[in-house]
Amino acid sequence: MFVPAEDRYDAMTYRRAGRSGLDLPAVSLGLWQNFGSADPYETQRAIVLRAVDRGITQIDLANNYGPPPGHAEESFGRMLATDLRGLRDELVVTTKAGYRQWPGPYGEYGSRKYLLASLDQSLRRLGLDHVDIFYSHRFDDLTPLEETLGALKTAVDSGRAVYAGISSYSARRTSEALEVADRIGLRLVVHQPSYSMLNRWIEEPDDDADGRSLLDVLGDAGLGAVVFSPLAQGMLTSKYLDGVPEGSRASRGGSFRPDFLTEDVVGHLRALAGIAADRGQTLAQMALAWALRDPRVTSVLVGASSPEQLDENLAALHGPAFGDDELRRIDQHAVDAGINIWAPRSSDL
Ligand SMILES: NC(=O)c1ccc[n+]([C@@H]2O[C@H](COP(=O)([O-])OP(=O)(O)OC[C@H]3O[C@@H](n4cnc5c(N)ncnc54)[C@H](OP(=O)(O)O)[C@@H]3O)[C@@H](O)[C@H]2O)c1
Repeated sequence: MFVPAEDRYDAMTYRRAGRSGLDLPAVSLGLWQNFGSADPYETQRAIVLRAVDRGITQIDLANNYGPPPGHAEESFGRMLATDLRGLRDELVVTTKAGYRQWPGPYGEYGSRKYLLASLDQSLRRLGLDHVDIFYSHRFDDLTPLEETLGALKTAVDSGRAVYAGISSYSARRTSEALEVADRIGLRLVVHQPSYSMLNRWIEEPDDDADGRSLLDVLGDAGLGAVVFSPLAQGMLTSKYLDGVPEGSRASRGGSFRPDFLTEDVVGHLRALAGIAADRGQTLAQMALAWALRDPRVTSVLVGASSPEQLDENLAALHGPAFGDDELRRIDQHAVDAGINIWAPRSSDL
């Protein structure tokens, strides 16, 4: 039987999500990859139990995580029913709907029909009667925001979700969503955008949001940012400094396209690894600490293919603070690497 470490909450930092009442761990675990049917259950279990043992309270899911879609929820549901039985209320379990989950016109995007049916399916796979955060996974420019956000409100009002959030909405679409949410009496608590040293779009001023960046919009409205892929899918670790190792995400094909690793990008990674070494950190640790330097970022949402990766990454919380000079050195290499694969499907719309 799994008995979680008694001191698990001592070493973790919890940060308040915007102006809500919800504290989230500074590092959260996502089950997007490595939780498919071809990934050994024992490895999945070891990763999640290590996370729980280290005070990671937020486990991030979506309907489509697998493969096949839904498998990550089933797998985590199995853990909730066994090892994690009794810990449900110590965890923040999230899920999302927005990407293709089943065939036909009701299996993706932002309609009320899709979102509520998907949430019910997620709850069944997880074996839960509610999730803690239900997200609209992407902006849908063909569905009125009133409908998408109305479905989130129904999810919350019916007790199927405790909080609601949006993911990968641009600064402009987020301000629009906030207005609509206000009008219909829905409180959005978190936004989940991609963000890393190689993908800094959430810092950029947006003319369509009064010149504010997404981070500004979130800060003004009191939403927390839970940022995903803070290691740029593994690029911001030491693993790709000398080629593509066998078994790594880049070697598997899929969301990490081989053309991301240009000579130019690898040059920046090496320079960043040098700065990290001067700070007594690994590149992964510095990348996570850097993403957390802005208090509007509530949590960095990492993935892991082993418990050891999680251990390395969690040490990011105990590194030195950044000096201005260091941040300037980092800025020279923390440049856009063209890796925001979510932009054309959401934040560019
Ligand atoms: N809202 C959305 O649209 C959206 C989109 C994407 C992700 N997300 C969420 O964000 C979570 C994290 O995304 P992500 O997995 O792309 O995050 P990430 O933390 O940037 O990348 C994680 C991957 O990097 C490698 N890695 C991690 N730590 C390492 C270390 N210390 N040393 C060497 N390699 C390391 C592992 O890949 P290897 O297999 O190479 O070991 C790991 O699976 C997802 O699980 C999901 O919950 C949300």
